[in-house]
Amino acid sequence: MTAPEHHDVIILGAGGAGLFCAGVAGRRGRSVLVLDHAKTPGEKIRISGGGRCNFTNLHTGPANFLSENPSFCISALKRYTQHDFIALVDRHNIAWHEKTLGQLFCDGSAQQIVDMLRAECAAAGAAIRLETKITAVEKTEAGFRVTTGEGTLACKNLVVATGGLSIPKIGATGFAYDVARQFGLGVVAPRAALVPFTFDGAQKAELDGLAGVAVDATVACGKTRFAEALLFTHKGLSGPAILQISSYWRPGQEIAIDLAPHTDVFAALKEARAAHPKQEVETALARFIPKRLADRCCARAEVTGRLADISDARLRALAESTNRWRLTPAGTEGYRTAEVTAGGIDTRDLSSKTMEARAVPGLYFIGEAVDVTGHLGGFNFQWAWSSGYAAARHA
Ligand code: FDA
Repeated sequence: MTAPEHHDVIILGAGGAGLFCAGVAGRRGRSVLVLDHAKTPGEKIRISGGGRCNFTNLHTGPANFLSENPSFCISALKRYTQHDFIALVDRHNIAWHEKTLGQLFCDGSAQQIVDMLRAECAAAGAAIRLETKITAVEKTEAGFRVTTGEGTLACKNLVVATGGLSIPKIGATGFAYDVARQFGLGVVAPRAALVPFTFDGAQKAELDGLAGVAVDATVACGKTRFAEALLFTHKGLSGPAILQISSYWRPGQEIAIDLAPHTDVFAALKEARAAHPKQEVETALARFIPKRLADRCCARAEVTGRLADISDARLRALAESTNRWRLTPAGTEGYRTAEVTAGGIDTRDLSSKTMEARAVPGLYFIGEAVDVTGHLGGFNFQWAWSSGYAAARHA
């Protein structure tokens, strides 16, 4: 019997985390093989950031991540920072710009980041094998055996970088969670995050006609709040502020939205009433929020007509529904459109320095598969790079 093809490191998953880890480990002299069932590597990078890839964030820090163990990410983020990745992008002559809030995007296309990671793998001698079905992973005395549709492979170190459940259409699976459970590691219940909210029938009827309206808002869930753009959709709510808060939201929870965060609407409407008593309340409110939304807010609060005819109590009710609109989303659009999966491999079972499973030497988990989830804004890719680097320095 011939011995199975052997590598120092086999990486499962050719997404951002797996490709980056492969390049770094290869440059350390390790023989590296990356396996993926997809036809092309880095598909999520290619479709990210509206096709321009928001590849990191200038302000990356532990506060930009959710996890049951919030301090877990500190070590990896310190060892490979946003500035390290920017330096790599610069070495590859990829032009970039800061869009807003420290978010860095390619000037050209996200494909440049995929090409850069592939070039790093090629330069480091790390091989990428695509369209490969992985059917089993087992521990052996010398490391691990990986059974694929094309045969059996062996390695000393196995890095699982198969991501989370978001966007099954482009190949997302729960494979990492299955491997973790097989080896006795904990898995924090995965859930769709950075995802639009959906409305029930009554909410949809109440907000009919608002699809496409965008507004700068503050959205709060419990003690967490985000001030960014909010967008009404045909199904419910989206936009950066909603995607951000969705990562903190649990089914049944109420959220509070301030549709005019820079205005005390009650005070402003009272002033308007004194100055222009004949003005329609919808027109007065439309000074602070888009007209279509102002019309809906007035209809919802049942406050219409000339300002002079509206009591303080009615104006206050309208202001409340604008500055403190409380609602309970029916749900989210789920993994079909979620940018990330929150939850994942329980970090208590991993070393924060190396991403190695504490109880299974040689087994590593990196990237989105791990229970570390970034805010919107380039943080999830930075986690892919930082966690990939941590594993690559050790595997
Ligand atoms: P990723 O999911 O990228 O890679 C996993 C790989 O494993 C895939 O290639 C998959 O085919 C493979 N795989 C899965 N199961 C397998 C199996 N059973 N067998 C073999 N292979 C398997 N983040 C950010 O910071 N900035 C941004 O601009 C965006 N934009 C964005 C847009 C959209 C539409 C989405 C869906 C997501 C983003 N993100 C983002 C999030 C970001 O893309 C994500 O967090 C990282 O790509 C995660 O990288 P990983 O390598 O961990 O997983």
